[in-house]
Amino acid sequence: MANKGWSQLWLDYEEKQKAAGKACADQETVEVKIDGFNADCRIIKSAVKELKRALAGDAVKVTLAKNEKIAKEGYVVDKNVVSASDCRGALYGVFHLIRARLMGQEYADIAADHAPSNPLRMMNHWDNMDGSIERGYSGRSFFYVNDEIVVDERTVDYARFMASIGINGIVINNVNVKWAATDLITTRFFDKVKELSDVFEDYGIRLYLSLNFASPIELGGLPICDPLDESVINWWKDKIKEVYDHLPNLGGFLVKADSEGRPGPFTYGRTQADGANMLGDIIAPYGGIIIWRCFVYNCTQDWRDTKTDRARAGYDYFKGLDGEYHENVILQIKNGPMDFQIREPISPLLGGLTKTNQMLEVQIAQEYTGHQIDLCYLIPMFKEILGFKTYCKEGADTVADVVSGRTMGNKLAGMAAVINTGNDFNWTGNDLAAANLYGFGRLAYDTDLSAEEIAREWVRLTFNLDAELEDKLVDMLLRSREIYEKYTSPLGIGWMVTPHDHYGPSVDGYEYSRWGTYHRADHLGLGVDRTDKGTGYAQQYYSPNAEMYNDPNTCPENLLLFFHHIPYTWKLKSGQSLIQYIYDSHFEGCKEAEELAETWKEFEGKVSERSFANVSERFGRQVYNAREWRDQVNSYFYRKSGIEDEKGREIY
Ligand code: GCU
Repeated sequence: MANKGWSQLWLDYEEKQKAAGKACADQETVEVKIDGFNADCRIIKSAVKELKRALAGDAVKVTLAKNEKIAKEGYVVDKNVVSASDCRGALYGVFHLIRARLMGQEYADIAADHAPSNPLRMMNHWDNMDGSIERGYSGRSFFYVNDEIVVDERTVDYARFMASIGINGIVINNVNVKWAATDLITTRFFDKVKELSDVFEDYGIRLYLSLNFASPIELGGLPICDPLDESVINWWKDKIKEVYDHLPNLGGFLVKADSEGRPGPFTYGRTQADGANMLGDIIAPYGGIIIWRCFVYNCTQDWRDTKTDRARAGYDYFKGLDGEYHENVILQIKNGPMDFQIREPISPLLGGLTKTNQMLEVQIAQEYTGHQIDLCYLIPMFKEILGFKTYCKEGADTVADVVSGRTMGNKLAGMAAVINTGNDFNWTGNDLAAANLYGFGRLAYDTDLSAEEIAREWVRLTFNLDAELEDKLVDMLLRSREIYEKYTSPLGIGWMVTPHDHYGPSVDGYEYSRWGTYHRADHLGLGVDRTDKGTGYAQQYYSPNAEMYNDPNTCPENLLLFFHHIPYTWKLKSGQSLIQYIYDSHFEGCKEAEELAETWKEFEGKVSERSFANVSERFGRQVYNAREWRDQVNSYFYRKSGIEDEKGREIY
């Protein structure tokens, strides 16, 4: 529906109806019977509207039946009957039915029985009030223009997309709460935020706000924001009452404190728990929650100091406080100990905390994974993360177990993604990056889905391809993360990326900086010693993971340089030396990126002209990027090591 000014992504009903040869999109052909639900429920109303639009042209009667036995937010679909115990479940079931139809299934074959894996399934926007987006690669914000909130048809479509993949919570502003965003909790913005939250509520989505911990100073005029100070506590009490008077459906607050220059409890000698619990206690009577990020580390390190290890920081700051966080506080933990690199170990805090609500944070905004220029389908990475065995408790110890609440029986649990959207026509910059948007939601709802199942669903819903091209596109998606990894930084070392911008190579870009992100390469080898003889980070894991990582012979090779300083002549299991692996993987990765771009040419005329042009242009830039990475990384290590490529290829 190009005339709208934005794509309908995987819900492009008109396109699908056209492709299926349905002449008229007559919504009157769809009858919806409501059995047991309150027909005035706003979510049920949205479900009915959606059914009529999506199934238009089918002479069908759909029943929405209430069934108390079905799990919260779960659904059962049997042919044209959708059953659920609550309105959200009914809406998700409706979207399941719609998906099945859009993918070409007949009603007689539709059968499903699903319950969400995770109670909280959230998107985090890093949108700023001036319309810019921190780490945004898809245009400007569609929530904010010039410090004003915009609620329009696009917002409604956005909420529909999110509901269709099972998202039930959205944080609408950047965790780095700057400028006008602090005012989101003032009368200046209450009406608009309420309007936005109403749109979300229609689709079963709770609105959350990122909070400025220094609000008592910046808004209240107090001299401090010490979480144990009485005047501060009283200020928050009044403020949060005022907020809930205006925004009764607010889900709660996301807080980034004591991190990368943000204020926090440390300023006053208090703990992270002091800060989180103070807000948690005040918000509890309103049913709100505090989501407290664990991204706390020293970002003013000295590169000469080899003892301080940024990777250790999360565990060091938060593990000791396990059990002290109150019931409505949940810690949000990035998947790795560093910062969304293409390959990192799993954060030892996940499952390391056993008495604390916790949720997983991933990033589908491709900050370090190609800026939505390079193709990088991230669901295989998220599957690895969820499948990681932490050894925190026998029988229920994968990250998926921990963050779903299964391990500890906690109700506050789940997954959040830093979102990759903006106001570009296609929402995600690169048309193919929408696979991550779709995929994250589907995976958060059902962590048992495979990366391939999700990719196939998305491809089938988004395009109208024959079986052969569908397979090709699914294959391109599935290989893309590995390809990106091959031509960028090797074996878990990370970084080597252009500072600040984080796109393209700069091997020494962060090597002498304050951010704690070093590769420590010299003429003999590279990598960071994080063993018991080095920074001790490996010891933050449970046994036997700790021992496995500690020994270079048992450490998974794709993380070898994260945990160990390894000589270039070290023999990998393949028999290749480390230096030869660096050369080979970079040549391979770059060649494979070129192949992706080549394969895409076969899609000309098979996808819309706009899509074809959009993705082609991106692949052009990806190929350039991959060559830069290959040649800069290979030349760098050739110059350091003086060791020739066995295959005699061009290295500069
Ligand atoms: C990264 C990113 C920042 C962001 C931060 C965060 O460091 O570069 O832009 O603020 O993550 O997660 O808060």
